[in-house]
Amino acid sequence: MPDPYEELNPAPRLLMGPGPINADPRVLRAMSMPLLGQFDPQFTRYMNDVMALLRDLYQTRNHWTLLVNGTARAGIEACLVSLIAPGDRVLVPIFGRFGHLLAEIARRCRAEVQTIETEWGQVFPPEQIEDAVRRHRPALVAVVHGDTSTTMAQPLAEIGAICRRHDALLYVDATATLGGMDVSVDSWQIDAISAGLQKCLSGPPGSAPITFNERVVATVARRKHVEAGIQPDGFVPGNGPIIQSNYFDLPMLMDYWSPARLNHHTEATSMLYAARECARIVLHEGLSACFARHQLASAALTAGLTAMGLSLFGDQDHKMPNVTGVQIPQGVDGEAVRRSLLEDFGIEIGTSFGPLRGRIWRIGTMGYNCRKQNVLVCLAALEAALRQRGFAAKSGAAVDAALAVYQRAEQSH
Ligand SMILES: Cc1ncc(COP(=O)(O)O)c(C=O)c1O
Repeated sequence: MPDPYEELNPAPRLLMGPGPINADPRVLRAMSMPLLGQFDPQFTRYMNDVMALLRDLYQTRNHWTLLVNGTARAGIEACLVSLIAPGDRVLVPIFGRFGHLLAEIARRCRAEVQTIETEWGQVFPPEQIEDAVRRHRPALVAVVHGDTSTTMAQPLAEIGAICRRHDALLYVDATATLGGMDVSVDSWQIDAISAGLQKCLSGPPGSAPITFNERVVATVARRKHVEAGIQPDGFVPGNGPIIQSNYFDLPMLMDYWSPARLNHHTEATSMLYAARECARIVLHEGLSACFARHQLASAALTAGLTAMGLSLFGDQDHKMPNVTGVQIPQGVDGEAVRRSLLEDFGIEIGTSFGPLRGRIWRIGTMGYNCRKQNVLVCLAALEAALRQRGFAAKSGAAVDAALAVYQRAEQSH
């Protein structure tokens, strides 16, 4: 009888969407290293390495810099469920799908959620956020840094100071920006922040790096409870309401990542290896070199798309460097173009959500995939797929324009 379950052998793809992307082969290699027990001194040393590497990645001196197992939203949920006590006021400025996600998670934590919204494709001026903080007096402001649904990045440099002035904590979702653009946790006075591996960090989805400061520690310590079966002698629980998730309980994760190594979950060994390698690779390149590489790819890609006669989406002054939104031209079936890219060229690009569904494509140039060859190949393939569907793209103009951007950058070095 034929075996219905063939050996796994996925067709090679170039993942140029908003994430996940192709993992760096060094990360995949790290994941194939032998497993260790979670209290093996070799393994706990790797855990400490991860804490130190992530501090540099996040540009922070926060001691509490660790991994939450799960995709990026596991990091979001760990921060929000631990920080928000039922009835707390939370403000979420929404400029895309992922702002709505933060508001939804905050509601599930029984917060009293207030939102402000701006049109998708725009970001908020800091004064508008301060005005909302003044009106709603939240205990926590939760905001997305780069919202991949719209490809916009909210400037954050002033938001931390606004939150401190009004005695609120600031949580940031940096899933799509960490490693691709500046995320200065300490100088921007961000209290808690989380990310994922599958975007600019060149890893697979499944591990969420987070960091938080002493203001957060003080808040969550009031809610500290430890499972009865592992409580140290003389343990006195906090007098605040118990955190509603065991898995995402920050004080218990802190105990696990502290020298006490108080047992919690079984750390996802191979994902920890992956996260360590992801951080190591970015830091080895250097943060500013890495950010410049993303900026250059964005400049080349946008030059190519424009030369092809396409229009870019959103406020270009606040565009993320690692994802580009491009309007689907009138009369072109956007899904047919995406299908052609995937089936004829093996290239994946993204569509979007909500009001942008069917209106824009999203092209990612992230991490390991953020390279000249990929930008050029993607432009050439898109141009061919569009011409096949009757869109009059001038042959070769896109690749020439992108190449010119790279050549100018090479000459100026
Ligand atoms: C800004 C942002 N936040 C959160 C998420 C959710 O991440 P995950 O799918 O890894 O849980 C994504 C995923 O695309 C994202 O782009």
